[in-house]
Amino acid sequence: MDRRGFIKTIGGSGLVIAASGLSLTGCDQMPQSAVAPWDGPAPTLPDREWMLGYAILAPNPHNRQPWLADLSKANEITLFADPERLLPHTDPFGRQILIGHGTFLELLDIAARERGYRTEIILFPDGEPAGDSLEIGDKPVARIQLEKDAAIPSDPLFKDILTRRSNKESYQEAYLTATDKEIIQSLPLLSGQRSGVATSEADVSPLREFARIAVLKEIETPRTLLESVELTRIGADEIAQNPDGIDLHGPLFWWLKRFGLMSHEKAITPGTIAYQGGVDYAMGWVDGTYNMGWLVTSDNSRSAQVNAGRSYVRLNLMATNAGIAIHPVSQVLQEYPEMHDIQTAFLEHLGIKTPETVQMFYRLGYQSDVSPSPRRRMPDIVMS
Ligand SMILES: Cc1cc2nc3c(=O)[nH]c(=O)nc-3n(C[C@H](O)[C@H](O)[C@H](O)COP(=O)(O)O)c2cc1C
Repeated sequence: MDRRGFIKTIGGSGLVIAASGLSLTGCDQMPQSAVAPWDGPAPTLPDREWMLGYAILAPNPHNRQPWLADLSKANEITLFADPERLLPHTDPFGRQILIGHGTFLELLDIAARERGYRTEIILFPDGEPAGDSLEIGDKPVARIQLEKDAAIPSDPLFKDILTRRSNKESYQEAYLTATDKEIIQSLPLLSGQRSGVATSEADVSPLREFARIAVLKEIETPRTLLESVELTRIGADEIAQNPDGIDLHGPLFWWLKRFGLMSHEKAITPGTIAYQGGVDYAMGWVDGTYNMGWLVTSDNSRSAQVNAGRSYVRLNLMATNAGIAIHPVSQVLQEYPEMHDIQTAFLEHLGIKTPETVQMFYRLGYQSDVSPSPRRRMPDIVMS
């Protein structure tokens, strides 16, 4: 992530000038190893590994990549949530983690078709976990049965998998064109789903403010901020070691780290450049929001959460194809007590009544392409 807000925060400090003066502007780039999966899997890989090489490119909360795939049975993949990769503070019931399994399953399905396989995807084959706890790790999330079928049509969205991004920049001041709004609204929804989109200042303005106060609440709540900060990889070395989480790299962060101004401890301490840079960055993208969308399910079952992920990633791929930037902003949807009042007001504003659940809330707009986020290697998610 190239956080422009940080540049605003330290603009007067001379660090940027120092970095460029010392010809260090090219240093600390994203390590090649962390983005190599975006070249796509080698065609020579066995079929299931090849499909998984696409599935790991799925959008997922905090880039935790919380997937484990069991390949022990022929023609089958069993998918588990990795219990080491949950988000207990910002996602206390694993709802977002399971959405991140839906995105994975959808890309897996698209890739399977491309390789001439029909899939049968059975969600929670050994039973659906309860919705009110983080105990989602011991039983499989899905069993994917693969059957060769020469007649299976390929999915037109396959070609967008490698260029799909979550674009976390401030967007151009522009409302979606009628054509682009139609594209967003043309997402084929699964049973029990509905979606909404706001593309005028009158409609977006209150949503932007919900996004703003929710982000500030997450930052001002020490344990939720800490959860994100602990997952922040500062600099190329840390990213290469842990190609997940929130990645900060480039000469600016290299200098800040070198001067002791950018560390996990500084980032949770109000008044520091690192903390204020985070606030300014978030306020930058909040201000740069001119269109927003949301995906709602008729209940909040575990299957509904997974299916929301399947639809969301298709929307992300359709947006990629149309040149529309998209960025999930989940803070207002998160289920920790400090967020409760903000969330209640947000749901009331959208007219959502329990058990209906907003699973995804996202910015839409126009911005130049961003570089890919890190990924672990495909073999890292295969259970041995
Ligand atoms: C369920 C879910 C929730 C997400 N919430 C946020 C969010 O609140 N803020 C954010 O910046 N990105 C959010 N994202 C996007 C992820 O951060 C992003 O997918 C991940 O960093 C990988 O980047 P990529 O999508 O560009 O591959 C979310 C993604 C998913 C699937």
